[in-house]
Amino acid sequence: MYESEQSWRDVDRYVIEELVAEDDALSAARETSRAAGLPDHEVAPNQAKLLALICQMTGARRVLEFGTLGGYSTIWFARAVGATGHVTTLEVDEQYAEVARANFERAGVADRINLVLGSATETVEALIAAGEEPYDVVFIDADKPNNPAYLGAALRLSKSGTVIIGDNIVRNGAVTDPHSDDPRVHGSRALIEAMGSDPRLNATALQTVGVKGWDGFALAVVT
Ligand code: SAH
Ligand code: DHB
Ligand code: MG
Repeated sequence: MYESEQSWRDVDRYVIEELVAEDDALSAARETSRAAGLPDHEVAPNQAKLLALICQMTGARRVLEFGTLGGYSTIWFARAVGATGHVTTLEVDEQYAEVARANFERAGVADRINLVLGSATETVEALIAAGEEPYDVVFIDADKPNNPAYLGAALRLSKSGTVIIGDNIVRNGAVTDPHSDDPRVHGSRALIEAMGSDPRLNATALQTVGVKGWDGFALAVVT
């Protein structure tokens, strides 16, 4: 599609090779997801490492994730928070959750992950009702039309300094089209606009290219 797309992929492969050590448990998480027929929607290794570095840079101990899939990003978060840290990850699909649980076991991080099965719009409300402690980092990466609901819930589970990251906010550039017929695009736009208009948040967004095509992250900190 884009003349440079092959180069983008080559650069990703190069930086992943040089900077992102992926051990057997991480490659197995990707491979078992493909073998089980899960969509190719996990973050790229170098993107996952950025998420892990954000956790390390902020000293994060508690991470909340919307959208587990096969648990690839979840394993990166679980490692980043360390043995005394905790990751809560929300997934609606029972089969995906099963794949993810096996991947957590293989990676040796199952004891620090709570995978909550169910629609995240409901399960996150249950976390709030249960009086869950605030999270340090929140990754919003589930069904895009619910992004505004997830951001609202994330804010109720946040404190000053909490970092909120949203995935897939560019969608091959479609994000700039207010007349898109793709509800996911409207979800991405709603996340960006909510981050921009909420006085509690200080936000930006970045485009990314590479092995996952042309996409991006929105990133905010709770003031
Ligand atoms: N964070 C993962 C990728 C997640 S893909 C990674 O980077 O490795 C998006 C996931 O959100 C899919 O597994 C999908 O089943 C899940 N999802 C979709 N709708 C959902 C909902 N309403 N509640 C919870 N999870 C949902
Ligand atoms: C889609 C969702 C994702 O979380 C992702 O990383 C890529 C694509 C999707 O719904 O199309
Ligand atoms: Mg995603």
